Amino acid sequence: MPLHQYHFNASISSSSSTFLAPPSAFASSSRTQNFSLPLRNSEICRCVATPQEAKTPTGASLLPVSPSFFSSSAIMYLRIAYKTSVSRNANIGKLQAGYLFPEVARRRNAHKEKYPDAQVISLGIGDTTEPIPDVITSSMSKHIFQKCQALSTLEGYSGYGAEQGEKSLRAAIRSTFYADLGINDDDIFVSDGAKCDISRLQVVFGSDVTMAVQDPSYPAYVDSSVIMGQTGQFQKDVEKYANIEYMNCTPVNGFFPDLSKSARTDIIFFCSPNNPTGAAATREQLTRLVQFAKDNGSIIVYDSAYAMYMSDDNPRSIFEIPGAREVAIETSSFSKYAGFTGVRLGWTVVPKELLFSDGFPVARDFNRVVCTCFNGASNIAQAGGLACLSPEGLKAMREVIGFYKENTEIIVDTFNSLGFKVYGGRNAPYVWVHFPGRSSWEVFAEILEKTHVVTTPGSGFGPGGEGFVRVSAFGHRANVLEACKRFRQLYK
Ligand SMILES: Cc1ncc(COP(=O)(O)O)c(C=O)c1O
Repeated sequence: MPLHQYHFNASISSSSSTFLAPPSAFASSSRTQNFSLPLRNSEICRCVATPQEAKTPTGASLLPVSPSFFSSSAIMYLRIAYKTSVSRNANIGKLQAGYLFPEVARRRNAHKEKYPDAQVISLGIGDTTEPIPDVITSSMSKHIFQKCQALSTLEGYSGYGAEQGEKSLRAAIRSTFYADLGINDDDIFVSDGAKCDISRLQVVFGSDVTMAVQDPSYPAYVDSSVIMGQTGQFQKDVEKYANIEYMNCTPVNGFFPDLSKSARTDIIFFCSPNNPTGAAATREQLTRLVQFAKDNGSIIVYDSAYAMYMSDDNPRSIFEIPGAREVAIETSSFSKYAGFTGVRLGWTVVPKELLFSDGFPVARDFNRVVCTCFNGASNIAQAGGLACLSPEGLKAMREVIGFYKENTEIIVDTFNSLGFKVYGGRNAPYVWVHFPGRSSWEVFAEILEKTHVVTTPGSGFGPGGEGFVRVSAFGHRANVLEACKRFRQLYK
């Protein structure tokens, strides 16, 4: 019988104290119940970053499992009935905790359980909240209707599309975002999102490269690097993985790293406008970054997922910088432009001029990985992408972005009026609030406990984020206003 058809006989216990901490006195202090579930092995482990086996008083092994699987905030433990002989990937074992945003969600759920009547407002994980503009969804519906009609006929049926994306969409992305920047349609690979492409790029680079990130940074860069085996162990004293160059980005250096102090690495992940700090690099700073990469023979992976949020006259693409095509890849997304976080559509630009040390084009290896690990974005999502890039779609996207930018102003004004130092916001949907001398998780917990508002602790983005909290502008207006009212009450 295949493994997924087994019913695991499990004893279940919960611990809501410390994330993934095994229960110390299992029998006496924890709720227990017997149950039988049709679980797949993969589901048991999916969200567990560092499973630590616990023991029952009789010595039986217990495995911590995803709380979200049980729709509960508590950590659950399954009695292990059977183990395979396959060793766990040691690189995944290096990861410290759950991916940041599931952990924030877990704490939000725990809070909701604790205060079932509270109106919890989420300005935390940075998911979009406003409806996808009608001009885009109508086009998608039309496409689905036509496609479905065709798919049910012999003549109209089609299966896989081009792994790299539909020609018309690649052309529309180029002409909308890269006109006059020397990028060709076939340099653009349409995907199911920037996060997925970040991991595919890591597969292209392999485990032998060194990498640098802005500190703080979007967690997918570091976590995918750890999973690929590019790093050493996590060093608890400095809160960093060995073998990653953390390029400190703070108010002191204007959130742009001091490149004279940055060690050479093969790969440099750089995000502008930045998640989480909201900082956007200037033309002059990006020119220095490109020169730094060129001097060191490095490749920049430039994440422009928030470029359309830019108000200042900073580059929206790394390819606005002369010479960037020889040293940079750019990844981007429809997620935060069109509310496509669930639809899933993004793209990555790999110029033909970008070569490995042996002269082999990076684009050809990326193409190879895309064809092996991915089979192209859904044609329905791509129809939505095309609609986004029509004149009406672009106008509608700008309106939604404008709405979130107004939210940003409300949040910035609130914290400014309370005397906090506030960064970001102007070029990104994130507000980076400084709480000097305080732990980010402590401030996150204080805000959640006292205002029922979920934010994101800055230290979750790297040690450079300690002492900051990120407040996302993705929220309904009424919720943002209510959250700000509560912030004013808490910090008046
Ligand atoms: C900087 C950055 N890059 C990439 C992503 C992921 O984008 P996608 O939804 O296209 O995977 C996010 C999402 O929050 C992000 O903040």
